[in-house]
Amino acid sequence: MKLWGGRFTKETDELVHSFNASLPFDKRLYPYDIKGSIVHAEMLVKQGILKVEEGEQIIKGLEEIREEIDKGQLQFDYKYEDIHSFIEAHLIEKIGPVGGKLHTGRSRNDQVALDIRLYLRDEIRNIQELLLLFKQDLLLLAEKYKDIYMPGYTHLQRAQAVTLAHHLMAYYFKFKRDYERLTDNLKRVNVLPLGAGALAGTSYPLDREYVADRLGFASVTENSLDAVSDRDFILEFHSIAATIITHLSSLSEEIILWASNEFNFIELDDAYSTGSSIMPQKKNPDIAELVRGKTGRIYGNLVQLFTTLKGLPLAYNKDMQEDKEGVFDTIDTLKIILQIYPEMMKTMKIKKENMYQACRKGFLNATDLADYLSKKGLPFRRAHEIVGQAVLYCLENKMELEELDYRKYQELFPAEKELFAADLNKYLALEYTVENKVVIGGTAVTETARIIDRERKWLEDRLVFLNR
Ligand code: ARG
Repeated sequence: MKLWGGRFTKETDELVHSFNASLPFDKRLYPYDIKGSIVHAEMLVKQGILKVEEGEQIIKGLEEIREEIDKGQLQFDYKYEDIHSFIEAHLIEKIGPVGGKLHTGRSRNDQVALDIRLYLRDEIRNIQELLLLFKQDLLLLAEKYKDIYMPGYTHLQRAQAVTLAHHLMAYYFKFKRDYERLTDNLKRVNVLPLGAGALAGTSYPLDREYVADRLGFASVTENSLDAVSDRDFILEFHSIAATIITHLSSLSEEIILWASNEFNFIELDDAYSTGSSIMPQKKNPDIAELVRGKTGRIYGNLVQLFTTLKGLPLAYNKDMQEDKEGVFDTIDTLKIILQIYPEMMKTMKIKKENMYQACRKGFLNATDLADYLSKKGLPFRRAHEIVGQAVLYCLENKMELEELDYRKYQELFPAEKELFAADLNKYLALEYTVENKVVIGGTAVTETARIIDRERKWLEDRLVFLNR
């Protein structure tokens, strides 16, 4: 059953039909397709293009179809090519030939562009909401773990001590930027393409601004060729999704490391880990691994759409039907991850003592010792050299920097003897090395607390808005 049979004398080959069709996947756009059609019909009546009774019949028919699909009374029949044909054919079946007037001044090309924008707009808001909730949980965890010390790493080598709160807040900020990226993406998504027709606009006196207003769009597209060929708002979304999963994948990698015997910083809750079919002792961080693994498909969907769009001439080309499955997959994947992840993090047990002990080995206070010396006027380069030699001495003697007495330092470095004072060890204590970094964005508990406070307000403002 086709919308375009008039010019043809032969039926489409069956395999060709299924290859050409998008109904098996674009069926999920039905609420958006119907919503757009209802407003289009309203506008056609308002403009005198349809009679009031015609409009009423069409709208009532569309509402009934929506309800029937919602309730599972109307099944998708794959003899139809796409969601647009399916709904239009059912409308005509239901209300007769007047249903054929709905498509006046419209093409499937601007219709599908409308549907995907309506869908993406909803889902971006859903993902933003999930991100906000996740960020709220990260903030609560940061508050709870505000004075748990742990090693901070560079090159996965112990570098300087931080707090677990500070570490978690690093992810908080990554997800905050992702949230803001989505807000920005919405500006490009939230533009009405309907009215562009097949590619050239239409000679009907459509009121596009009315339609935009009724559908909650902030503006209307201003070039019909662009309106039906633009999918860059989806490329932008894919790129943001890829950034979000990159952040989640890094966090997952840390959780996997932390849960290992080698780190032994956390234990995942039973509900968020799995066992081995052969090794009875195993408790595997499958969820974190799978999130890391799903990164591949989300990057893949980004590259797929870029490749599909590359080299397409204006305006609509059937290639563009391939814009949907990737975006559906990316959205489904992100949404399930963002629902599971906060709980996994909230339920994991923190092995505070192990994190603390890990800070005591590996010379995490070496930079603090160099700062101690350079604050007394020694050029930092020379201070760096001295501490390097002190580390070497400690390695050979199986000691830590804070275990050497200041007199030992004086003996080792006679030229800088007067710089080492009796209070030296105070400056090398773990607590001190974390707490003295009061610079904006530093590790001090007071600084992290200040940021947490401010971010709580940022979150509250947005959560109120979302719980509309
Ligand atoms: N199923 C099509 C798509 O997803 C709808 C637009 C079809 N337009 C056309 N001229 N064949 O892109």
